[in-house]
Amino acid sequence: MGVIFLDNAATTPLEPRVREEMIRMMDNFGNPSSTHLSGRGAKVEVEVVRKRISKILGAESGEIFFTSGGTEADNMALFCSVRDLGVKRIITTTIEHHAVGHPIEFMVERGEVQVQYLTLNEYGDIDLIELENLLKNGPKTLVSLMFSNNEIGNLYPVAQISTLCQKYAALFHSDTVQAMGHLPINVKDVHYDFLTCSAHKIHGPKGIGFVYVKSGLKVKPFIQGGGQERNLRAGTENTIGICALGKAFEIATNEMAQDQKKVEALKTRVIQEVQRIVPGVKFFGRSAELDKSLYTVLSIAFPKTGNDMLTFSFDMKGISVSGGSACTSGSNQGSHVLRGLGAWTEDYQPVRVSFSKFNTQDCVTGFIQALEEIYAITPAK
Ligand SMILES: Cc1ncc(COP(=O)(O)O)c(C=O)c1O
Repeated sequence: MGVIFLDNAATTPLEPRVREEMIRMMDNFGNPSSTHLSGRGAKVEVEVVRKRISKILGAESGEIFFTSGGTEADNMALFCSVRDLGVKRIITTTIEHHAVGHPIEFMVERGEVQVQYLTLNEYGDIDLIELENLLKNGPKTLVSLMFSNNEIGNLYPVAQISTLCQKYAALFHSDTVQAMGHLPINVKDVHYDFLTCSAHKIHGPKGIGFVYVKSGLKVKPFIQGGGQERNLRAGTENTIGICALGKAFEIATNEMAQDQKKVEALKTRVIQEVQRIVPGVKFFGRSAELDKSLYTVLSIAFPKTGNDMLTFSFDMKGISVSGGSACTSGSNQGSHVLRGLGAWTEDYQPVRVSFSKFNTQDCVTGFIQALEEIYAITPAK
């Protein structure tokens, strides 16, 4: 077996049906803004995808705006809320992805908005009573809370958060980059003002995603230029990427139930085997609780061994896992997520194992064998 890729929260391999769709679109070179035949052909392709995505989400097609990925989509939601919608306060957590955390810090430093961070317990849970108490008073607010955390997998109670936001007239942005295509998300069931998606988390290509913006929110252009994406996001559309995103999202949605079942079985086996092999092992956040975490993510806290470079040792054995999120891999400071939980200690080494539908039981067997070998050489202190 070649490399065993268990870092699917960082990115996922391209789905062959998505690759086919990209190849098909490579010959459709039209610019969707052109009014002649080739332009109109490309425009139709883009609008068909917009419709397809909006249908899956229970949204209007005018509420979907294509972006260069999850980071841009999150930036757009946050910056536009403050600049255009009168938001003066953002309520969030310290464990959001940097695509959310950094734009907020940037605006706070410039004095454009204030931020309040919700208290997290050691498992990464938020307290809805605290959220409600904060919402009772204060200026126009955006609540920005992710659907599921990319490092520890925790699922957040978005329906209850949304209800509170509506009760106190706050806007609600949820970074759904890790959850889209893995769990059902429908704006008819839960009110969201902004949602985000990135194709490369669901076996699509990198550099394409979308932001859902609830109709009626009067946001101004985020990228200035032409009138693409209904004036919100200028720039000639990434037609190949958009069609690939549409295909990836459609496949992920149609096959969600079977993929979830398969991946859950892999995650369950890893949880059991890791506990068997490594005495004193723990799991960060809620990642080992299937009903409270995204089934694709498992964050393991390995007791420190003589070997302080576990992810490197796995890599040497052909197993790709990460020490946290992709951007914190290699750092020994502990990720901002684990520090946010107060769960980071020098006594444990974090290893995030994240799965996709392309993983098999053989991949898990390979991971377990590698773990046994590593622990035979360097047993826990
Ligand atoms: C939760 C979350 N939000 C946002 C992003 C950024 O998405 P992209 O890589 O498409 O910019 C990621 C990617 O790791 C993510 O996991």
